[in-house]
Amino acid sequence: MMRIGIVGCGTIGAKLAKYIDANLRGKAQVSAISDIDGQKTRDLAGALRSTPKILELDALIDAADLVIEAASSEASFDIAKRTINAGKDVMVMSTGGLLKDYKMLFELAKERGANVYLPSGAICGLDGLKGAKFSKIDRVTLTTRKPPEGFRGAPYIVKNKIALEEIKSDTVLFEGDALEAMEGFPANINVAATLSLCGIGSAKTKVKIIASPSATKNIHEVEVEGEFGRLLARTENVPSPDNPKTSYLAILSAIATLNGILERVKIGT
Ligand SMILES: NC(=O)c1ccc[n+]([C@@H]2O[C@H](COP(=O)([O-])OP(=O)(O)OC[C@H]3O[C@@H](n4cnc5c(N)ncnc54)[C@H](O)[C@@H]3O)[C@@H](O)[C@H]2O)c1
Repeated sequence: MMRIGIVGCGTIGAKLAKYIDANLRGKAQVSAISDIDGQKTRDLAGALRSTPKILELDALIDAADLVIEAASSEASFDIAKRTINAGKDVMVMSTGGLLKDYKMLFELAKERGANVYLPSGAICGLDGLKGAKFSKIDRVTLTTRKPPEGFRGAPYIVKNKIALEEIKSDTVLFEGDALEAMEGFPANINVAATLSLCGIGSAKTKVKIIASPSATKNIHEVEVEGEFGRLLARTENVPSPDNPKTSYLAILSAIATLNGILERVKIGT
């Protein structure tokens, strides 16, 4: 029985915990949960049959075989590092937080014999990129289209005083590398970070951000060109009902990653 500790009991953490509780009985169990918002942990603990303990991070790591981070990009590096240091496996949702120092973290995982899992989240196409990168890759681009309001509050928008309400047709807001995108559009960083970590790194992964008044979904297009040919994967994401910033597919992707860890057959790259 795999003991799972969940850090962050918001949209993704709570949905995952409820999924594990209802569907993985006998295989996995939510042993401990943690959140900076005490009410969220109490509400979630009360909704689960497995009656997980509410613990601080180090105690949660002790009580788990696998720690799932679903908290924030500010906290994800520390959560992952402490989990790996303890020789435990970790699944990270806030992948943007790993971008600056991922090499050190991945080395530590090798030393400690811990596994690090980064679900595809809200994008598709990583399977093709994983194969393609064993030949020459010329270009990896992520194009994100959202309704203009979806960018409100982003540091790049504030700094450049962009009037989102005046945008009436598709408008390119930003073009740059994934690291610059991370600084200007932190809410968009996870998809760009996961793509960078899977592929050719954040300095070479290009990001284009488009405000699209006609868009009703968050659309991510991954384009890869190289010796293998060309890959174009477009995902039109339905927002999750509890948190419109989080795509429903991101939750499903975490559920699929967890099932992949528990199963012995792996299909797809
Ligand atoms: N990889 C992807 O494609 C992808 C997609 C969607 C969301 N995400 C990321 O996953 C994370 C969770 O998303 P969500 O929709 O569940 O967010 P959410 O805001 O609904 O929930 C986050 C929860 O974490 C808690 N939290 C914040 N900092 C914490 C800390 N230091 N320790 C413990 N708890 C903490 C909050 O109180 C909240 O309850 C976010 O960082 C989000 O950006 C990644």
